[in-house]
Amino acid sequence: MGVEDVRTAGGSEDVTAGAESRTHLRQMLVIGAISSVVGVAVALAIDWFPTLASTQGESIDRLYDVLLIFSVPVFVLVEVVVLYCVWRFRMRPGEELKDGPPIHGNTKLEIIWTAIPAILLVCLCSYAYIVLTDVEEADARALNVRVVGEQFTWTFHYRSPEGRDVASPQLYVPVGRQVNFTVQSKDVIHDFWVPAFRMKIDAVPGIDTHLRVTAKRVGQYPVVCAELCGLGHSVMRQTAHVVPVGEFDRWLRDRAAQAEGGGGAPGGGEEEGGQATAADGKAVFADAGCGACHALADAGTNGTVGPDLDEVVPGQDPAFIRESIVDPNAEVAQGFSPDVMPNNFGETLSPDELDALVEYLASETQG
Ligand code: CUA
Repeated sequence: MGVEDVRTAGGSEDVTAGAESRTHLRQMLVIGAISSVVGVAVALAIDWFPTLASTQGESIDRLYDVLLIFSVPVFVLVEVVVLYCVWRFRMRPGEELKDGPPIHGNTKLEIIWTAIPAILLVCLCSYAYIVLTDVEEADARALNVRVVGEQFTWTFHYRSPEGRDVASPQLYVPVGRQVNFTVQSKDVIHDFWVPAFRMKIDAVPGIDTHLRVTAKRVGQYPVVCAELCGLGHSVMRQTAHVVPVGEFDRWLRDRAAQAEGGGGAPGGGEEEGGQATAADGKAVFADAGCGACHALADAGTNGTVGPDLDEVVPGQDPAFIRESIVDPNAEVAQGFSPDVMPNNFGETLSPDELDALVEYLASETQG
């Protein structure tokens, strides 16, 4: 009789406990499902990235959206279970000495929660691999550009139609044509990144790394260094100019002519008159990115990495200004460190541009 009583009592306790845990489970699922839908909607509504300017970026942005759709519910469901348990099963006054029921594990549950994430991971990895092969697909007509990183600047090397090397402190790419970047470094590890293109790769001393980008939107986008590379890392920024094909060809021709030694540009240069080749010092200042580090009132820049040019240039003769640009370590202003300013402006600026820059700085800083 006594034994029967205990067994019956235990049985009905199991039944109510079972019903109760099913109610909890149902409540968690409903809250989790609603929160997941809201979470995914919010995640997709947020504008995570800067303007998209490359075709490779399209599949990368899509991949990101798919990852959000799968990972947000996983995060939300786990959080719902944790918070629900904290709320419903918290210790109430008088329960300090009570212990929960013993649990011996649940094979079915363990199989489910191992299998679902495993399947999800395999699917997402396969998809990511497809996207990777897609964005790395080579186009035989690609334009080759060599990118050289050094503390703390990027230099972009092109081939002129005559096959000569043409260096530029700014990146110019034609819209709609794939560019095959070969990335190199002269000193430490840098990382070549144009966020608007979505693609980035390390510049490693001693080896060539590659990156393919097809720009699809005309405009100007920041080029940055994405690897901590020293004191000037944060100012290792330049501009990527995505321009129409005709404009790109013209730019490359002008650049090649300038590099050959300035004024005497052959052929077309003369027809356009002297104005076409005479560089504008203010434009050179902006193009070479001087303002990222230097303050100059006339140019409207206020960089503080290097000396304030309105303070240090007045009273200096042009020869000194030129030396400070070409060989910045020759004399470092008090309070500043050597080796921060790139020492290759003698190579990346044409003689014309350098003359114009020196003249501009000398005239704009007259007291
Ligand atoms: Cu170069 Cu950071």
